[in-house]
Amino acid sequence: MEKQGAGITVTQHILKQQRENPEATGAFTTLLNELIVAAKVISREVNKAGLVDILGATGKINVQEEQVQKLDVFANQIIIERMQHIGQLWCMVSEEDPDLIGIPSQYPKGDYILLFDPLDGSSNIDVNVSIGTIFGIFKKKDSDSSSDLLLGDVLQPGISQVAAGYFIYGSSTIMVYTTGNNTGVHGFTLFPSLGEFLLSHENIRIPEQGKIYSINEGNCPYWDERTLALVDYFKTRNKETGRPYTSRYVGSLVADFHRNLLKGGIFMYPADNKDPKKPTGKLRLMVEANPLAMVVKEAGGYASDGHGPILEIAPLELHQRVPLYIGSKKDVELAEAFISGKRS
Ligand code: AHG
Ligand code: MN
Ligand code: MN
Repeated sequence: MEKQGAGITVTQHILKQQRENPEATGAFTTLLNELIVAAKVISREVNKAGLVDILGATGKINVQEEQVQKLDVFANQIIIERMQHIGQLWCMVSEEDPDLIGIPSQYPKGDYILLFDPLDGSSNIDVNVSIGTIFGIFKKKDSDSSSDLLLGDVLQPGISQVAAGYFIYGSSTIMVYTTGNNTGVHGFTLFPSLGEFLLSHENIRIPEQGKIYSINEGNCPYWDERTLALVDYFKTRNKETGRPYTSRYVGSLVADFHRNLLKGGIFMYPADNKDPKKPTGKLRLMVEANPLAMVVKEAGGYASDGHGPILEIAPLELHQRVPLYIGSKKDVELAEAFISGKRS
């Protein structure tokens, strides 16, 4: 039984960071707090708390397929509806919407841009495996730009993010976030009985080298020689470098990333020739790779596209996809050496 009222809430933590940041105006605190409310609503739905209503009211269970669509769309709508009225956003970018999401004219606009993957790991919803929400926050580039939405305002490199993080809806609901500038990476666990996220993982640091590699090996027929050599390296027996590594692959980026963040290891989603429309792999730069790259860097890790830092990629389009190697610094640097041809 958790001690009632024990522990630091995420709101207290954000306010403390605000007090320590001289130019903080509280706008950012409002933004994060509203996003947390959205995540609590999504968590309740994902954890089928609503099931009680469905069972209680009609006794009917939703057909799973319908459930999968519902939750993806549901999560997207919840975030957009909750965030659009807080007066802190210039616009939003969602994995689920092809274009920029403007703020309806009846609401005041602000200077922040929220980018998000509302439900990551959607293929796992109907098999009760952890899924999540990923978010990154930019400030609008020049606050005196014209009133209309400019893609240029949004297409910023990940290094410009002012905050990033994710929620995992799993055996418990956990929020991990950072505001950069060496403020650290902090994790909070949702206590349903309190309805509060309480600090559970203060100042997370990822081990410099891990023993876990995460990749979908079913894609190996579509990899190039360097990728094959890299994955083979992790599978080869070699005592002094602690190999072979253990293979762990959940199929939800947030879950695979979070495990490696806490335990050490590398997650890889390489470029492959499986789908000519996606030659640079499946994961999206703006709403998946950049936010997690900011988190992992702040925790002492690294994220690369195989040739250089994810955070330094100048985006050309909203939903561009990138190869992603992310996790323990030494493991990702090694992956970069293989993929860029510096070693074999
Ligand atoms: P999303 O559900 O937001 O589309 O993301 C799914 C992604 C990511 O969560 C995961 O790492 C990857 O898809 C798994 O892809 P494969 O099934 O091709 O391995
Ligand atoms: Mn995703
Ligand atoms: Mn998604």
